[in-house]
Amino acid sequence: MNIIDIIENKKHGCILSESEIKFFIEGVTKGTIEDYQISALLMAIYFQGMNLEETILMTKYMAESGKMLDLSEISNNITDKHSTGGVGDKITLIFLPLMAAAGLYTAKLSGRGLGHTGGTIDKLESIPNFKTNLSIEEFKNKVKFHKTAIAAQTPDLAPADGKLYALRDVTSTVDIIPLIASSVVSKKIASGANHIILDVKYGNGAFIKTPEEAQKLSEIMVQTGKSLNRNICAVISAMNQPLGRAIGNSLEVIEVIEFLKGNIEWDLKELTYTLCKKALEKSGRKETDKYLDELIESGKALEKFKELIEAQNGDSSVINDYNKFPSASIKYEIKAVKSGFISNIEALKIAKACKNLGAGREKKTDKIDYSAGVYLTKRYSEAVKKGETISVIYTNKKEAIKEAENLILSAYKISDEKPSKSNIIYKIID
Ligand code: URA
Repeated sequence: MNIIDIIENKKHGCILSESEIKFFIEGVTKGTIEDYQISALLMAIYFQGMNLEETILMTKYMAESGKMLDLSEISNNITDKHSTGGVGDKITLIFLPLMAAAGLYTAKLSGRGLGHTGGTIDKLESIPNFKTNLSIEEFKNKVKFHKTAIAAQTPDLAPADGKLYALRDVTSTVDIIPLIASSVVSKKIASGANHIILDVKYGNGAFIKTPEEAQKLSEIMVQTGKSLNRNICAVISAMNQPLGRAIGNSLEVIEVIEFLKGNIEWDLKELTYTLCKKALEKSGRKETDKYLDELIESGKALEKFKELIEAQNGDSSVINDYNKFPSASIKYEIKAVKSGFISNIEALKIAKACKNLGAGREKKTDKIDYSAGVYLTKRYSEAVKKGETISVIYTNKKEAIKEAENLILSAYKISDEKPSKSNIIYKIID
């Protein structure tokens, strides 16, 4: 077998056989296939697609390309949650303590952000001393004793994905459903949890733009996961406006703490509770919103967040003293240019502003400013008067303020009529 024949087959729209897919993924992992040949096959797949069978096989061999975590000594009832990424997306940090308080095991390996704002690992690293680089043994022990742990994904899990993703990134072959599905699901399979809850987003602040595309991706990921013996489902939600009020690393962790103290934003609740109820259902439990409310009202979920921080060496005094977080030297208020009701806040523009303020990175090696970001004082459907503060910029980059202000002002739409509250959940694929 040789790679040129495989490229030739896909170029002409043939279905790749199991042995061809195995040969390709092994060659990618061992470095025996040249980058330009891998890229050529990726582009052929981009134009010719892959059917479900090919996607499942690609996922299986990608998952098996490195270490496969075995969590069975802890439990056969462990949940993982994965978001396709959004603006102000701090859902994982609410989900984990809530589920630990409910008695569920969750094991979460997560990435750093390469988009406009930080990823979950970056957010956690805004907590002084929080350790995210855990060895597999440390990770497993923490899950065992604290019901939950979160660590930075190591490159030895699904290494074929690391190689393929890096090439897709520079050959414009990221946005194709079978490759996204095999990339996401292979990492989840290698991470060892039996139950997988996918949080799939669509909209201007997500890399999938329409609900129809999000549904297609979700269906393929769920079918792929099920074929590989995982109890998996996908919750599809809108990402046209930022989630919650805070965007930026430490600002988002503070919003998480506020949520766990009972100061709850409606959209964070809608999405987190939906994901939590699906996770509990996968473990054979049917629970209500009231049950989750009680975990918050009783302080149990906040207590679990404190335990998670301490278990990973972090300074848990941040929970009661927000001054312990890195703080920005500049706090700049943006004022409404007219009176009315907020009828939209475009997520992508807010995300771009955050990146310019220092909250995100352009390349892997860029350093993040944990204190930078935007706080939305006024949100969707809220009334505003001309001259009132609609949002606050936090930054250490004076030179970035003007452009960020323009972006934020153009992201806000203010209308005369109060818009009706809308739900953000679109569909659940199970
Ligand atoms: N996230 C992933 O992990 N892989 C993709 O291909 C796209 C988004």
